[in-house]
Amino acid sequence: MSLPHPIQYQGSKRTLAADILHFLPRKIERFIEPFAGTAAVSIAVAARYISQSFWLNDLNQPLIELLELIIERPDEIVSAYTEIWNGQHDDSIEHYAEVREKFNQTHDPKLFLYLLARCVKGAVRYNSKGLFNQSPDKRRKGTQPENMRKNIEGVSAFLKGNCKFTSLDYREVLATVSSSDFIYLDPPYQGVCGNRDARYFAGIDRDEFVLAIEQLNRRGIAFAISYDGKLGNKTFGIPLPPELGLKRIEIEVGRSTQSTLLGRSEITVESLYLSSSLLPETFAGLESYNHMAPKQLTLLETNGRLSAATR
Ligand SMILES: C[S@@+](CC[C@H](N)C(=O)[O-])C[C@H]1O[C@@H](n2cnc3c(N)ncnc32)[C@H](O)[C@@H]1O
Repeated sequence: MSLPHPIQYQGSKRTLAADILHFLPRKIERFIEPFAGTAAVSIAVAARYISQSFWLNDLNQPLIELLELIIERPDEIVSAYTEIWNGQHDDSIEHYAEVREKFNQTHDPKLFLYLLARCVKGAVRYNSKGLFNQSPDKRRKGTQPENMRKNIEGVSAFLKGNCKFTSLDYREVLATVSSSDFIYLDPPYQGVCGNRDARYFAGIDRDEFVLAIEQLNRRGIAFAISYDGKLGNKTFGIPLPPELGLKRIEIEVGRSTQSTLLGRSEITVESLYLSSSLLPETFAGLESYNHMAPKQLTLLETNGRLSAATR
């Protein structure tokens, strides 16, 4: 099933969502994404009627406000997007620069949707002052309003009235979850960059993350984590420590466009970690899993590190 998807976002789990669902319970009382991004997995969970209650959290406040608008007030965000998109005059690059400047002053989520639709590879970038500084994609004008409307209405139909929206640090979310919840964690890719991550609004500290997972384990809460991966023989992200007792499943995502161009045939693999409370007998011996519809991925080289466009 092709799911609606209004927000372009580097790191979206849109193409992997169906695979991830394969490992989740069939019924979930409340589905929580502390690193929601575009909420791609929640959209898939709602579309399969696995849960009817969601908590979407992301530290990036305009992103969460945008999700709330899309889900709760679709008409309002559709008209705003259409107006901003139609406002692209002869010099659409200059128009983008104007919108970006206004967004950096106001943090208005309506402006953010246009920037995400129009920026290079849907990849957010922030400078050290926290200002959005990604350039426009010069070859495209961003999603056509009619197409955007269909995607927004689709997402709203699945999730309207069923979500709580917050913009907190993930640890504040985890502190209040209960054993009837299911948590899907998709933190920013962890290299060696510490707390700053220009690819998102913020990065996270790995040791603190491991500690937070230990606490979830102790409280008997069920969860799944997307974390590290690899391209051919090269890994990206450091695997989570075995002491956490999680089941690691490698999902084979596809062949990267970059390696195909270079005449290599390297496969991209993304790890999914499952809490022990989640492990049905059938997954116990499973080590790897093939993506249902292999796709070519664009791989980006950032500061000598590899990061897949799905992260
Ligand atoms: C890999 S993306 C999530 C992508 C998401 N699964 C999707 O399908 O779109 C990671 C997200 O974590 C958010 N983030 C970074 N640090 C955070 C923190 N400390 N607490 C909560 N969210 C955080 C980023 O803003 C980013 O949207």
